[in-house]
Amino acid sequence: IFLEKYGYFEEPAPRIHSPAQFRAAVREFQWVTHLPVSGVLDASTVHQMSLPRCGVNDAESHTAWAERVRAVFSGRRAEARRRRRYAQQGGKWYKRHLSYRIVNWPWYLPQHQVQLAVKAAFELWSNVSSLVFWEAQDGPADIRLTFFHGDHNDGLGNAFDGPGGALAHAFFPRRGEAHFDSDERWSLQSGKGRNLFIVAAHEIGHTLGLEHSPVKSALMSPYYKKLSKDFVLSWDDILAVQNLYGKPSKGSAVQLPGKVFAHFQDWSHTFPGGTQQQGRHVSYYCHSFFDAITVDADHNLYIFKGNHYWLVSKRGNATEPQPLQTRWAGLPAGIDAATWSEADGKFYFFKGGRCWRYKGSTLEAGFPQKCSASNLPRHPNAALYFQQLHHLVLFKGPKYYVVSEETLQVEPYYPRSLRDWNGVPAEVNGALTHHDGFVYFFQDDQYWKFDQGKLQVVVTGKWATQLPWMGCWDVNSSRTLL
Ligand SMILES: *[C@@H]1O[C@H](CO)[C@@H](O)[C@H](O)[C@H]1NC(C)=O
Ligand SMILES: *[C@@H]1O[C@H](CO)[C@@H](O)[C@H](O)[C@H]1NC(C)=O
Ligand SMILES: *[C@@H]1O[C@H](CO)[C@@H](O)[C@H](O)[C@H]1NC(C)=O
Repeated sequence: IFLEKYGYFEEPAPRIHSPAQFRAAVREFQWVTHLPVSGVLDASTVHQMSLPRCGVNDAESHTAWAERVRAVFSGRRAEARRRRRYAQQGGKWYKRHLSYRIVNWPWYLPQHQVQLAVKAAFELWSNVSSLVFWEAQDGPADIRLTFFHGDHNDGLGNAFDGPGGALAHAFFPRRGEAHFDSDERWSLQSGKGRNLFIVAAHEIGHTLGLEHSPVKSALMSPYYKKLSKDFVLSWDDILAVQNLYGKPSKGSAVQLPGKVFAHFQDWSHTFPGGTQQQGRHVSYYCHSFFDAITVDADHNLYIFKGNHYWLVSKRGNATEPQPLQTRWAGLPAGIDAATWSEADGKFYFFKGGRCWRYKGSTLEAGFPQKCSASNLPRHPNAALYFQQLHHLVLFKGPKYYVVSEETLQVEPYYPRSLRDWNGVPAEVNGALTHHDGFVYFFQDDQYWKFDQGKLQVVVTGKWATQLPWMGCWDVNSSRTLL
């Protein structure tokens, strides 16, 4: 029952019986998400419900948080009452040493990297409380982390929904289970994809008995957030875990800024499975998804992911991954979008609200610029040099922007709706114009081939196996080895 999420909009809910209960549930949801508390399912509430989040119900969060705040102001007197409350809500573990096991993980993430990230996610909590965790390689464990696809016998309301929406959910003590949607694009580097470290840390919080927090900066806030320079745990997370388990038994609480966890040890240069065919490695990007892609005058492809890029020659062979910094000094890891302009022969990169322009390897004077100040979208999904308009095009959600490269200003009458690009999905990872004259769009493992004459998508498919020029020609044979 703790797992029941807001599934009652798709199907009859087991626990919501009357309109009054429904309004109460909507009010609870609005409260935890900082919307005006009306109890009415209005457009902004429905929108908020569609954002990527944890699938655990918020229903008890208000009470748990109210108790926590009351305890801060009333000190020990509230202790006994608080204990009673927690017994009724999430519950807690009655031991301090807990084992955990990573039952499975996405095949495109190296095991070692996943282990390090999960270890750090547990450490976040043990570093600020009296808890101690250790990884059990096999056999029973108190807390188990498992990746599931779709319906996995937690009830239909808890079936995973593919990319976006519910990312994961977990059970309160002492069931000890955290479930992750295996159809999300999980990542352990800055850049595109859902950060597994941060989602695991949140779900571990639930397995320890923590409810959702209404504090926006809290790790236990129900909504997905990115790592930043702030501490991963907020004061409210620390208060919540210490309420249940007390302070660290020796020393004081240790906290590190989020960006420390942006990269878990670089993955090996080849595919994690270590597949090697006829003396050739299959590039890692072939088995995963990338941050950005572009192509230069010599038809060389550039594929960007995390802190690296690959160069794929016209004949379709890829280099080893190269650190971004070796070619474009000063460029940060995990860029949002990149394009090479046919008009001026320069590289353009976008990340957050900033943009970089390089002539060769030289960053031009005045860059990086705060491009969002001239109304370019923050965190664009993809960038493209579009010959027909002789301008850069930035894609962001349901809109696209035509941008003059000289001034980096949005042209008049833009942004416009993505509907102009008939058949192109929202939130692509990258786009390029190939020398065959078609524009290709990429999202996760899919591509869309856009005909510039007909102004519509004419073919879609999987780029790694179906586009030989993507440099993954060994990918077919290596997949059969897995
Ligand atoms: C936990 O604290 C130790 C030092 O006591 C530190 O090395 C480690 O990085 C910390 N882990 C996290 C996740 O903050
Ligand atoms: C492409 O492969 C050929 C033969 O395997 C090799 O000689 C050449 O250097 C490769 N080119 C690149 C760009 O890696
Ligand atoms: C991979 O296999 C598919 C069908 O199994 C085939 O259509 C495609 O051409 C192959 N790709 C490469 C790059 O060999």
